[in-house]
Amino acid sequence: MDNLSSVTTTLDAVAFDVDTAEGGRRRILHPLSLSLSQHRIAVIGANGSGKSTLLRLIAGLVAPTQGSLQLSPSGVRSGFIFANPQAQLIMPVVGEDIAFSMRRSISSASRRRARSREILDTMGLGERENSSIYDLSSGERQKVALAGVLAAEPELVLADEPTTLLDLRSTVEFTELLMGLQAPMIVATHDLQLAARAERVLVFEEGRLTADDAPAPAIARYREVAGA
Ligand SMILES: Nc1ncnc2c1ncn2[C@@H]1O[C@H](COP(=O)(O)OP(=O)(O)O)[C@@H](O)[C@H]1O
Ligand SMILES: [Mg+2]
Repeated sequence: MDNLSSVTTTLDAVAFDVDTAEGGRRRILHPLSLSLSQHRIAVIGANGSGKSTLLRLIAGLVAPTQGSLQLSPSGVRSGFIFANPQAQLIMPVVGEDIAFSMRRSISSASRRRARSREILDTMGLGERENSSIYDLSSGERQKVALAGVLAAEPELVLADEPTTLLDLRSTVEFTELLMGLQAPMIVATHDLQLAARAERVLVFEEGRLTADDAPAPAIARYREVAGA
C-alpha cells in the first residue's frame, strides 16, 4: 500500500512513576527506549503490566517521570479509543456525537453533518445517524466512538483494549475497521487474533518490555509467561 502516513514515536529512557497511597512512589514503567514506526503495532501483556500507561504517554495524556518521548513529525494529532465507548460518547444522538468531534475543524454545521454521514456509511452505520446512542448495541457504540475519533482526522490512532467489551461478531467487525484505517495504529489488547494481525508486537510484564517481535514469537512469549 502506498499513501500511508508515517509517524515515528521515539521513547528515550522513558519511565513512569505514580504516588502510592502510603506516600511513596511506585515505578509502573521501567526505563524504556524504543522507536515505533510500523503501521500496526500491538501491545500485549497481563492486566497491570503497563500497556495503558504506554498508550497514555504516547497520547500525551501523561508526561514521563524520566526520559523523553517524541512524536515525529512534530505536532502529530493522535486519537484515543478506550475499551468502554461510553467514556467518549458525548452527545445523545449518533450523528450529533460525530459532528461534535468536528466542531473545531469544520465550521459549517451542514458540512459537519454530511461528513458525519459519510463516516457512518463507511462503517455500515448510515442508518443509525439519528439513533440515540443508548439504543445501540455495544458493538455499534464502539464503532460510533471510532467514527468520532476518525472525524477528528487523527494521524495516529491509539486504541486501548478496543474489543474487550465486544462479542465475537462485533470483535471481528471492529477488527476489520481498525485494520482498514489509513492512519497508523498502536493497539493494547488481550485479543490475540487482533495482535496477530499487527506487524510488530510488544510484550509487557510488570512494567518492563520483555519481547519486541513479530506476532508469532511475541504471542508465544506471552503465552509462556501467562502459562496459557
Ligand atoms: N495513576 C495511577 N496511580 C496509581 N497506580 C496506577 C496509575 N496508573 C496505573 N497504575 C498502576 O500501574 C500498573 C500498570 O497499569 P496499566 O498501565 O493500566 O496496565 P495495563 O493497561 O497493562 O493493565 C497497574 O498496577 C496500575 O494499577
Ligand atoms: Mg489497560
